[in-house]
Amino acid sequence: MSHIGPDAILSKRKSYFYPATYHFYKNPPQIVSGSMQYLYDHNGKKYTDFFAGVSVMNCGHSNPEILQDTIDQLSQLQHTTTLYLTQPMVELAERLAAVLPGDIKRTFFCVTGSEANEGAMALARLHTGKSGFIALTGGLHGRTYLAMSVTGLPMWRIDDNLNKEKVFFIDRPYSAETGYEAAMAKSLAQLDAVLEAHGSEICAMLAEPIQGNGGIIKYPGNYLNEVKTRLEKYGVLLIVDEVQTGYGRTGKMFAIEHYDVVPDIMVTAKALGNGIPISTFSTTDAIAASFNRSSASTFGGNPVAARTAVSVLNYIEKHDLVRKADELGKYLREKLEQLSSDFIQEIRGCGLMLGMQIQSPRLDLTSAEITDMILEGMKDRDFLVGKNGWNRDVVAFQPPLVISKEDIDAMTSALSEVLRLL
Ligand SMILES: Cc1ncc(COP(=O)(O)O)c(C=O)c1O
Repeated sequence: MSHIGPDAILSKRKSYFYPATYHFYKNPPQIVSGSMQYLYDHNGKKYTDFFAGVSVMNCGHSNPEILQDTIDQLSQLQHTTTLYLTQPMVELAERLAAVLPGDIKRTFFCVTGSEANEGAMALARLHTGKSGFIALTGGLHGRTYLAMSVTGLPMWRIDDNLNKEKVFFIDRPYSAETGYEAAMAKSLAQLDAVLEAHGSEICAMLAEPIQGNGGIIKYPGNYLNEVKTRLEKYGVLLIVDEVQTGYGRTGKMFAIEHYDVVPDIMVTAKALGNGIPISTFSTTDAIAASFNRSSASTFGGNPVAARTAVSVLNYIEKHDLVRKADELGKYLREKLEQLSSDFIQEIRGCGLMLGMQIQSPRLDLTSAEITDMILEGMKDRDFLVGKNGWNRDVVAFQPPLVISKEDIDAMTSALSEVLRLL
């Protein structure tokens, strides 16, 4: 295919997309191909990808081992729906049951993270007969209406008329001002107050085990345990949103394993399909029994997506990617911590899900503007890093889990130069 180039793409986006659509970089490249941890632009320039399409490409771009299975499935059978019997989706459900925590073993397949969170919330309502939700400030759960209603990041709440009376927000256990422990005590006190006043109306609390878009926020070790104990007293379920953290990203198969807590319902998406859209909500036999009215998703469990996902799980296991993410994550963290710069406030996260909180020692620039300058400088040096955070001032490192130490060395050395030149 001939490449029309970034200017033509920007112009077509301007004409045919909504103004809501935005992009990274003042001078963005046209990305035309990918191979494992590398991306290539229209001029053949090679970039090392440290964002993985927002934590999707855990097994790398156009991974040949996985592609082989996807293409094989594409050429045999593309689509039927759950109304017909096909093999990949049941194989995937069985494989998931083996890796999901605790007694979680039943899975409903859909396509996006938002949709899977909606399904999980419907399930919680059906099971408990209650309808309210508790959610954390700083959390992101999706673009659909209920998922957006429980999203605690102002930037992603695009409608002022979201369902307010049914959603109770409590503060996330993180505060740069007071520190984690004080923030956790405050968050739990707020949870106690909400449960005491409204526990009989609330069906579930949603939380990401590590907030992604909220700025890579990992909670104190016992936070979710304390939360779960409190929720159980009121018959409130815990839905854990592993859309961004799942499938090895944090150095565990699922990030909830860092906390020694088994949720009632687990939601996954993104990395499961390594670029082919697929998402899940999974639960125990007991809770699944309440989901007994007919339901189906046209594309959920599609043979191509399901076969690809089985291949992804095989690849993660065969290439020991969970352990690799843990080891390389520790190495990357060490290297980031060695960078000395007035612009770095904190390094957060674990595994290959790390965030660098940026601060501005300069009066003329905000921390968000500095973050953009870092992204731009890194792109010019052939590294694509991400950004997130409440104020869009956290540099995100979420590379494909197939990167090497050499990639990390080269990236951190470029970053050191970019920070020095700010
Ligand atoms: C934690 C989390 N949940 C849900 C979503 C929404 O997923 P999707 O964009 O696939 O609907 C996202 C998207 O980034 C996410 O990070």
